[in-house]
Amino acid sequence: MAQPSTIATWNRNPAEEEAMGAAHAPIWRRMIDVSVGHDLHDSTILDYGCNQGGFLRMLYDRHPFKGAVGIDIARESVARAELLKGHRPIEYKVADSAASVGRTFDFAYSHEVIYLLYDLAGHANDIKAVLRPGGTYIAAMGCHTDSAVWPRWRKLIAETSSIPIYDHSLEAVAEAFSGAGFTVAVRPLDLDAFMPVTLGSAYFPKVVDQLRYYSQDKVLFRFVRTA
Ligand SMILES: C[S@@+](CC[C@H](N)C(=O)[O-])C[C@H]1O[C@@H](n2cnc3c(N)ncnc32)[C@H](O)[C@@H]1O
Repeated sequence: MAQPSTIATWNRNPAEEEAMGAAHAPIWRRMIDVSVGHDLHDSTILDYGCNQGGFLRMLYDRHPFKGAVGIDIARESVARAELLKGHRPIEYKVADSAASVGRTFDFAYSHEVIYLLYDLAGHANDIKAVLRPGGTYIAAMGCHTDSAVWPRWRKLIAETSSIPIYDHSLEAVAEAFSGAGFTVAVRPLDLDAFMPVTLGSAYFPKVVDQLRYYSQDKVLFRFVRTA
């Protein structure tokens, strides 16, 4: 199934879309903790698949940057991001490619977007087109075929996602970025937070599933543009 160029919200249920930011906040915090070891005052940042924009708001509040762009195909979520951004130097745009923004960035981020993209090589080249040489793309990915919970999650997410989802392995993602001229590194997210336990959760039937997911299955790729 081809992906529509824009959608209203990513989650078919707008209330669940609204709740997603709060659920992801501890993960964004960890992404920032392990990837930002420097001052960002002179840096520009891209968030690919920003939804309601919470990641860039958190990043700016902890490490003020020069400017940032968040893009997403979900129109209502981008509109909400624009409303919530306050004084921060961030632009949120409806777009399905980074290159269409017409700017270059020192850093790019995405959190759980790659499994919604059919063309991994296309995504790698799109990020390459907007990242300065030496620039870094941090992509967080728990939705991949090497995750122990993926067979279960694939079905659950397909019920809520308004666009198709894809079965990518970590190798396929690494190959796409290596092939596009990035050096590829990876680490577990290794979340260092207490995460709420929902007994009987469809996503984590056992507490140990949740522990394994956040300490092992969910990874951060670091792609550095070399050429
Ligand atoms: C699982 S949500 C994650 C949202 C956000 N990164 C977060 O951490 O809460 C995936 C997001 O990717 C967006 N998305 C999917 N395909 C996209 C594409 N081709 N270009 C831009 N955004 C896309 C969806 O609309 C959705 O907002």
